[in-house]
Amino acid sequence: MRKKAILVTGAAGEMGHELLRRLAAEGRNRLLTLDVRPLPESLQGLEGHVHVVGDILDPQLLARLVSEYEIDVIYHLAALLSTRAEFTPETAHRVNVEGTMNLLRLAAEQSQWRGQPVQFLFPSSIAIYGLPDLESKALFNRVREWEWNQPRTMYGCNKIYGEMLGTYFSRYYRQLAPEQPVTIDFRCVRFPGLISAFTLPSGGTSDYGPEMIHAAAQGEPYACFVREDARIPFMTMPDAIRALLLLAGAPRERLSRLVYNVTAFSLSAGEIRDRVQRYFPDARITFRPDPKRQAIIDSWPADVDDSMARRDWGWEPEYDVERAFEEYLIPNIRQRYGR
Ligand code: SER
Repeated sequence: MRKKAILVTGAAGEMGHELLRRLAAEGRNRLLTLDVRPLPESLQGLEGHVHVVGDILDPQLLARLVSEYEIDVIYHLAALLSTRAEFTPETAHRVNVEGTMNLLRLAAEQSQWRGQPVQFLFPSSIAIYGLPDLESKALFNRVREWEWNQPRTMYGCNKIYGEMLGTYFSRYYRQLAPEQPVTIDFRCVRFPGLISAFTLPSGGTSDYGPEMIHAAAQGEPYACFVREDARIPFMTMPDAIRALLLLAGAPRERLSRLVYNVTAFSLSAGEIRDRVQRYFPDARITFRPDPKRQAIIDSWPADVDDSMARRDWGWEPEYDVERAFEEYLIPNIRQRYGR
């Protein structure tokens, strides 16, 4: 008998960290997690949890997992973020596209074997948008899901193709087969920049937000790599995981789309600095824009329209900007660094 499991890829990353805590807190103790790294100590020892150190590009490993587990839900979080992906675009393509394809194929196989769709949760990103210049960014201030889908990063291209592949597997996979196969239940959230109080991102382009706050809390100087007026939407990590879980729990018939924008607040880098200085008046924050990373941020929208998520599955962030700093970021970050 195979054991039932929820599979989480990229479990040792920032989102995995918060998702595992939440799933464990909800008593969902049949987790199978996968990452190229071991899990941090704080996440080890969760009851009923098995962690496998391995690569989503390893077909033998995926075959072994399928032989041992009946997987009915997949949170496919593993990815190389936007800045890192620009340095190694071919590797990013392998991890972000081929890796996603491997997981979708696994989900499709499992769905057919079970005779019921496997649920597939996929985090996408504002990086799938690409505005050509700052005039357009000012004019098209809050973009909707189908607007400006013209990414200028490898990561953005990979993510939008992942959305399309998921949609294909959900709606059209083996559409010409004599018998209609059971397809997967693909659900996707496009996230803005994410900020956690407990972890730091690595290799993203929205990293200046979290880096600025964590540096100030440690009393370290920070040179921000984008201009003061650079504006994109952000969200706290607990809200991001809430969004994924809310979408996972929504009745299928309520969902009019497979891919949804979500957001919480939109801030310029200068506004983040001002907020940080309210709590850490001695913070030494300067601006030393890197024109190349700046250009990526300039192509991302200043805000996104998440009214579809609000309407279809009751999305609403718990943390607006005030609560995000006052109740989540600052107290937890102070505690983390003992300041
Ligand atoms: N935070 C991500 C990045 O900067 C965007 O999804 O790459």
